[in-house]
Amino acid sequence: MSGFVCPVCGLPLDRTEKSYTCAGNHCYDISKSGYVNLLLSQKGGNHGDDKIMVKARRDFLEKGYYNALRDKITDTVKKYASDGAVILDAGCGECFYTSHFYEELVREGIKAEVLALDISKNALAAAKSRSKGIEKAVASIFHMPVADSSCDIIVNVFAPFCREEFLRVLKPGGIYIQTIPLEEHLFELKEIVYDNPYKNQVEPYRIDGFELAKSSELRRKVVLQTTDDIKALFMMTPYYYRTSEKDFAKLDSVDSLKVSTEFAVLAFKKK
Ligand SMILES: C[S@@+](CC[C@H](N)C(=O)[O-])C[C@H]1O[C@@H](n2cnc3c(N)ncnc32)[C@H](O)[C@@H]1O
Ligand SMILES: [Zn+2]
Repeated sequence: MSGFVCPVCGLPLDRTEKSYTCAGNHCYDISKSGYVNLLLSQKGGNHGDDKIMVKARRDFLEKGYYNALRDKITDTVKKYASDGAVILDAGCGECFYTSHFYEELVREGIKAEVLALDISKNALAAAKSRSKGIEKAVASIFHMPVADSSCDIIVNVFAPFCREEFLRVLKPGGIYIQTIPLEEHLFELKEIVYDNPYKNQVEPYRIDGFELAKSSELRRKVVLQTTDDIKALFMMTPYYYRTSEKDFAKLDSVDSLKVSTEFAVLAFKKK
């Protein structure tokens, strides 16, 4: 049995080596890269992050710049996970964080079921070599192929937020783990690209329907070693979409940069 449900009729999905099927005879093939496409409205198009963005993020993360964040997310997942837990990474990208907490849970003998979804086929294709034990699906956070009250933990690392969906799929008392950037995050990078860079405005740690269970803040300077790393980091941010080619090109002449990274990893408990 899969942790995902049929996106057409909502019935449970049975997983075999090659496909997923529901009792209503809807069938979804598992791709060569090991994910299943449960996105109904895709119509052949590509959604979410494109190949260039995915590659930039993957290369950047593999260099270890964000390992401290990765470890903090894993620690937070481990704090709340126990045998039998169902854990969903919503907007998992290339499963950089997902595979780390999955492997750590396996190492510690905690038998959890880990599901990962992302709207980008490119991201999931790039997750191919990551932990085979993770069930990966192309799907939208705004309409997740996941049953009501079926998840113990949702992890969201810089992916879109959909309160209603997260509340729907979490069990009562379930945990929503969110990573957010703090005030000075990447400020030195913004100073290069923008004439008038702003610090991030950090909202109070509150979400309706949840109570804050734990918050950890992580502030450290990271020295980016190459122009490619600097550009890759910028491409990982939401600013990238809103920046002109001319401003982005300002990064071409920078070959190393000390930059502030500041995150909060928040755990909210569903009321
Ligand atoms: C900034 S990336 C973060 C990826 C990953 N969590 C990480 O931190 O490495 C945001 C991700 O959200 C995905 N995404 C965007 N819109 C989405 C949606 N509606 N449903 C699911 N994923 C979405 C993108 O494809 C992308 O992989
Ligand atoms: Zn079905």
